[in-house]
Amino acid sequence: MNDLPPARILGIESSCDETAAAVVENGRTILASMVASQVNLHARFGGVFPEVASREHIRAIYPIISGVLQEAHLSLDEVDAIAVTRGPGLPGSLVVGMNTAKGLALGSNRPLIGVNHLEAHIYSAWLDWTGQTDGSQVNGREEPRFPLLALVVSGGHTELVLMTDHLRYRRLGATLDDAAGEAFDKVARLIGLPYPGGPSIQKAAEDGNPRAFEFPRAWLEGTWNFSFSGLKTAVLREVRRLEQGGFPLPVNDLAASFQSAVVDVLVGKTLMAAHEFGASEILVAGGVSANRALRETFIERADLPVHVPPIALCTDNAAMIAGAGYYRFVHGQRDPLDMDVLPNWPLTEL
Ligand code: KG4
Ligand code: ZN
Repeated sequence: MNDLPPARILGIESSCDETAAAVVENGRTILASMVASQVNLHARFGGVFPEVASREHIRAIYPIISGVLQEAHLSLDEVDAIAVTRGPGLPGSLVVGMNTAKGLALGSNRPLIGVNHLEAHIYSAWLDWTGQTDGSQVNGREEPRFPLLALVVSGGHTELVLMTDHLRYRRLGATLDDAAGEAFDKVARLIGLPYPGGPSIQKAAEDGNPRAFEFPRAWLEGTWNFSFSGLKTAVLREVRRLEQGGFPLPVNDLAASFQSAVVDVLVGKTLMAAHEFGASEILVAGGVSANRALRETFIERADLPVHVPPIALCTDNAAMIAGAGYYRFVHGQRDPLDMDVLPNWPLTEL
């Protein structure tokens, strides 16, 4: 059970190409949550175009915020605080959410809380998306318990984090080059699949053989870091070899073999770290945690409970910002109205 004080938080997210707002009660119950995705706009560029993203955030942010308040039947005076993504993310995108949150905080005299986007991905595992309110179950399972080994895998990050309590993190390792989601996006482009690469590779892989190509796994033994650039280059080499030979690209097999190499390393290293550091549970979050093969492989191979948020809460949303914002709020965090965005903000302690 949650024995922390009750609070209702308005969350605002605009770190990349999703404009989102949500109202969450007590870090778990989602009263309303909306996401305006720009994915179709960016698809023709093959990735996120920063200026286009900022402009779209400006257009979408007020309708989204008033939409969630309306859906939750609340006025701004009825929320206890406004939590907003402070970083990491695209500077021009972050600024839109931050300035909006500051304006609302000033106008309604509500406290302002800057939230780390990576921390928020982790807190998506506490959200009670089915609307259960008894507090004992989250997503049909027990609430995550500490010490917890968290793998945050998104378009910009691949982080292995030991969490000893709420808001207490020890960063064990991260990617040395491409993030896992970035590798999915780049490889999709190499084999002619549309952006975003994660969902299109997952779909193509369903009809492919994961053992068709022996792609390398960078274990980086002795460290808790990851590297995906060698794998990407191996796919590129294979694509060139096939093209030069005049062969049609076996897109499904390439997708399945690539996906299986990423999944092997992510799952393998996370399980090793969980044992090494005596974690009692595992938590997987971030856009790539929506990947079916990754979710299934974790459940199959882990001998510890594994928490993965429901798919809709894996990719960027504002319920997770409000969820993390709640824990920051009840631990006393209040940020000044001259707070700046932090585009390269690492996951830090309270
Ligand atoms: O967390 P997120 O929405 O945004 C960031 O914070 O970066 O993650 C987006 C990333 C993209 O790289 C996208 O390709 C990847 O998550 N992704 C997936 C899947 N769905 C989204 N990767 C693999 N499989 C998926 N099903
Ligand atoms: Zn994210």
